[in-house]
Amino acid sequence: MNRSSFFQCARWFTLLGLLVLPLVGCKKESDSSGTAAPVAGAEPIRVGEYASLHGSEATFGQSSHNGTVIAVEEINAAGGLLGRKIDLITDDNQSKAGESATIVKKFISRDKVVAVLGEVASSRSLEAAPICQSKQVPMVSPSSTNPDVTATGDYIFRVCFIDPFQGRLLAEFAHRTLKASKAALLSDVSSAYSAGLGKYFREAFEKNGGQIVIEQKYASKDKDFRAQLTAIKAANVDVIFVPGYYTEVGLVVAQARQLGITIPLFGGDGWEAPELIDIAGAKNLENTYYSTHFSPEVKSPLVEKFVATYKSKFGAVPDAMAALGYDSAVVLFDAIKRAGSTEGPKLRDALAATKDYPCLTGKTTLDAERNATKSAVIITVKDGKFKYLETVEP
Ligand code: PHE
Repeated sequence: MNRSSFFQCARWFTLLGLLVLPLVGCKKESDSSGTAAPVAGAEPIRVGEYASLHGSEATFGQSSHNGTVIAVEEINAAGGLLGRKIDLITDDNQSKAGESATIVKKFISRDKVVAVLGEVASSRSLEAAPICQSKQVPMVSPSSTNPDVTATGDYIFRVCFIDPFQGRLLAEFAHRTLKASKAALLSDVSSAYSAGLGKYFREAFEKNGGQIVIEQKYASKDKDFRAQLTAIKAANVDVIFVPGYYTEVGLVVAQARQLGITIPLFGGDGWEAPELIDIAGAKNLENTYYSTHFSPEVKSPLVEKFVATYKSKFGAVPDAMAALGYDSAVVLFDAIKRAGSTEGPKLRDALAATKDYPCLTGKTTLDAERNATKSAVIITVKDGKFKYLETVEP
């Protein structure tokens, strides 16, 4: 190669390098979900999402993730934020204890995320929250309702109501609609959510003059609840309150009916999953009730648009986790926009100032404890279908 062809070659390589570099800079890390073309030259804003995409609470993580993906696609289609694309990095904790902490540490140290979205289940949010707090990386939980989650510190937020409210509304529902004065409580001791909701229900039910005649316990992954249910049957109560997650709740309902227990069973948002009907059996679910955050039947342009997008993209009707997964992301994006920055302390301050943001689950204002105040809905099951009963205002 003579001197002039060497320089020609070198020039071509430089040109090629200049063309390729920006593409490398915007390379997708993992489960990136943005559809819009990256803003040329700008580094994407990385957001980490940890979720239970497999395991005993798989539908929680899947629904929440789907909702989050729609929010990310919408913001990227609208040009991103601060001239940058949002890059969502999702990791699956498989509903297992211990995994969330590992994932979130990796998000922060390796992936350099500016914020973390997650989780649905309170116990797993409680695992990750201290890590986000100590690293000054804001975390927004879509739907963990145990008060301790946001009490972890000033970097931890949520966009849903909390369990003192949920326990109270369920106690009032039991008293007023189910006309119950004697209740049994069957809770999951391995879950912060279940133990907490059971406690708040008891306090409110007793305050209304009701009595918890018997309390029985189980642990997540248990399959046989007949000993507890037999004891409950003998206690002659009006209703059974089961604050748990759908996998165990489904078996509890089926076994209760097999034992000839016909009284109402009811619980909180942890019941919500299409699988509940498969596990419990449609007939066994007659005369059961649960409270949750959202009904796709709500008539509002925002909800109708989301339901249509979700249906066409995922072939299903969105549930509460899907709506809250979307809401957690849009509240974060709004804060990034108002902060004009992705620095932890600035983002934290902007999140804390969230006021009247129009979410699918209602207008969202974050209070001094970094919680939202929202209405709840009560659902029952009729002929194997979830049916909206009423809305309870806070
Ligand atoms: N609130 C539940 C918890 O804190 C999780 C959940 C949210 C379940 C929404 C169903 C629907 O663990």
